[in-house]
Order: sequence, then structure tokens, then C-alpha cells
Amino acid sequence: MLTEDNIKNALKAVKYPGYSRDIVSFGLVKQVAAKDGAVSVVMQLTTGHAEVAKQIKSESERVLRALPGVSRVQVEVNQPSAPSPAAAPQSPWAQQQKVPGIRRIVAVASGKGGVGKSTVSANLACGLQQLGAKVGLLDCDIYGPSIPLMMGVHERPTISAEEKMVPPSNHGVKLMSMGFLVEGDQPVIWRGPMIMKTIQQFFSAVEWGDLDLLLVDLPPGTGDAQLSLCQTVPLDGGVIVTTPQEASLGVVRKGIAMFRKVNVPILGLVENMSYFTTPAGERVEIFGHGGGQAEAARQEVAFLGEVPLFTEIREGGDRGVPVVVSAPDQPAGQAFLKIAETLRRQLA
Ligand SMILES: Nc1ncnc2c1ncn2[C@@H]1O[C@H](COP(=O)(O)OP(=O)(O)OP(=O)(O)O)[C@@H](O)[C@H]1O
Ligand SMILES: [Mg+2]
Repeated sequence: MLTEDNIKNALKAVKYPGYSRDIVSFGLVKQVAAKDGAVSVVMQLTTGHAEVAKQIKSESERVLRALPGVSRVQVEVNQPSAPSPAAAPQSPWAQQQKVPGIRRIVAVASGKGGVGKSTVSANLACGLQQLGAKVGLLDCDIYGPSIPLMMGVHERPTISAEEKMVPPSNHGVKLMSMGFLVEGDQPVIWRGPMIMKTIQQFFSAVEWGDLDLLLVDLPPGTGDAQLSLCQTVPLDGGVIVTTPQEASLGVVRKGIAMFRKVNVPILGLVENMSYFTTPAGERVEIFGHGGGQAEAARQEVAFLGEVPLFTEIREGGDRGVPVVVSAPDQPAGQAFLKIAETLRRQLA
């Protein structure tokens, strides 16, 4: 049976020329229909570049003809109505829009889950706020939004007279989260277009006000949320979080490659869970140590600093008071503050 889903799935084999992403996840496929072996597909490009359209059309036709049960294929590739002949070829990022009032947007990412991205994001947001910046924190983790808990924010956004969402704030940081938009512990099945739409709303429908910096906590990996974010707003930089052993396994490279592919400058690498100091003062390098710094050197990106394992960091996260707020003078708080200072210098 030929279904729309089959056809869309098949079209995922067609990459956007020059990119590793496919045309379906770029959102180019607008209509799909199949009847008695005849398949018709309508696509809309954002570029007026004829060669790109031609390549996508012929590659899509080839893929669709190869599907069992298909006898006829019609692929219509539309381009913007009045392409100027002199226009430079546009990228899929052509729809990006700068957000008025937000000076810089920086994403915190990793190749893999559980390395402490959210912990680092929350502490850096509060740390930069303490250094005098106006900071917002956007939690784009669709699968496990943990920022509201870590920041101790329990209320939801209110709605302004202009019908925009007003982000709640705590510790001087404004906050928006996927967690505010879904009910309690309900699992959410997010499809690509929903993710894109929600992320767009985080910018178009939220009253962020004046911000020096918006930090974005991303879910692990390099999926739809990452892509949607990069397509929605121009990012001023990316921070990669890793644990020492993961760095040596090369998971970091995926995160770095993702930012590089979309021309986002990599501000640097943070090594989290670097080591643990026992109450007796003995230093234990649970996940090894120094992998982050070594990988940063190999990848020629800045090393922003290391954060040891501290019980206080985990407790602070669970309590909703990041350690930079509760104990800025203690070693754990200091570790984050040092990284915040380096980051501020880089963004100045
Ligand atoms: N340096 C640290 N010392 C002690 N505990 C830490 C440290 N960093 C993170 N943790 C704890 O490890 C757990 C995972 O951290 P966190 O949620 O920040 O990771 P994540 O990378 O955001 O995970 P996910 O990929 O699920 O989004 C949390 O309970 C957090 O409190
Ligand atoms: Mg997280």
C-alpha cells in the first residue's frame, strides 16, 4: 500500500544539496498524494536557485519511482515567486530572523545525554547574571525539560496585554521551557513540525524584553530541536558540554560538527564531572580527567573550563537553587563562575 507516510519516508533519502539533512526534515515537502500507483508531491523551496531545485526534483523522482507499486511520479518544486537572477544561492537558514531586544543567543549542547548540559546552562545563566548581564534561559529539551526544576520556577508564563507569553523569572533570570507548555507528567510525542512551531513561538510569542544574552539548553544529540533552533534564529555561539570519558570517545565531535555545519561559532568546551574529591581530600577521577581539554585542542576550539563532581551541584539542581547562587564562594560555585567569566569575555 502506498501511503503518504511511505512516500514521505522515501523522500527522507533525498538530501538537500550540500547538506547532510534531508528535504523532509527541512520542511520542504508541502503536499503528498497517492492514488492507483500515481504519486504527486509538491515542494516549496526558500531559494530561487534553479540548480538546487533541479537536483531535488530529479533525485526525488528517482527515489519515488523506485518505490514498489509506483507507476507514475509527478514532483512539483516551487520556488519563491520573483527570484532575482542576481541573487546569491540562499541556504535553508534563510528564514532566520534576529529577535528584537535580544543581543546574543548562545546554545548549550552535547553529543549525548546526561552529561550535565542543563546543570551547566542553569549555573552559567545565573553566573552571567551575577556578572551584570541581563540573562534569559530557554529550555528546548522536549523530552525532559529539567530547567524549571533546577531554577526553582514553579509558575507558568502569564499572558500580556499584547497576548504574548511573559516568562517567569527566578534568581534574576527569565525562563521559558517546553515544560511550561505540556501538562505535568504527560509524555509528549513530538513530531518534527510541532517542534519547529514551538521553537518559533519561543521567539515570536514570548516577551523576552531586553536581554544581553539568551542561553538555550538543548536536548542531547543533533535532532529536530537543534535543527529547528538553527533555522529559526541566528545563533551567536555554541557551548559544548562533555564528560571526560565521552570526550575521548569522540561524541563531542558530533556536537561540534553540528554547529560547524550551520556556521555557528563554537565558543568552547566545558568538561563536567571532571573528578571527585572525597571527604578525606583524596581526588578520584571517576570518568578519567582531561579528555575535554585534549579534545578541545584536537578540534581547535577553546577550552572553557572544568567542573568537578560535587554533591552540592546535584542538590542545588534538585532544590531549584543553582550552586552559583547558593554558594558562589565555594569551589563548586567558583568553577561555574570562572567559566561564566570566560564566556562573557568571549562574547564581549
Ligand atoms: N558536576 C556535577 N556534580 C554533581 N552532579 C552533577 C554535576 N553535573 C550534573 N550533575 C547531576 O547529574 C544529573 C544530570 O545532569 P543534567 O540534567 O544537567 O544533564 P543533561 O546533560 O542536561 O541531561 P539530559 O541529556 O537528560 O538533558 C543531574 O542530577 C545533575 O544534578
Ligand atoms: Mg538536560
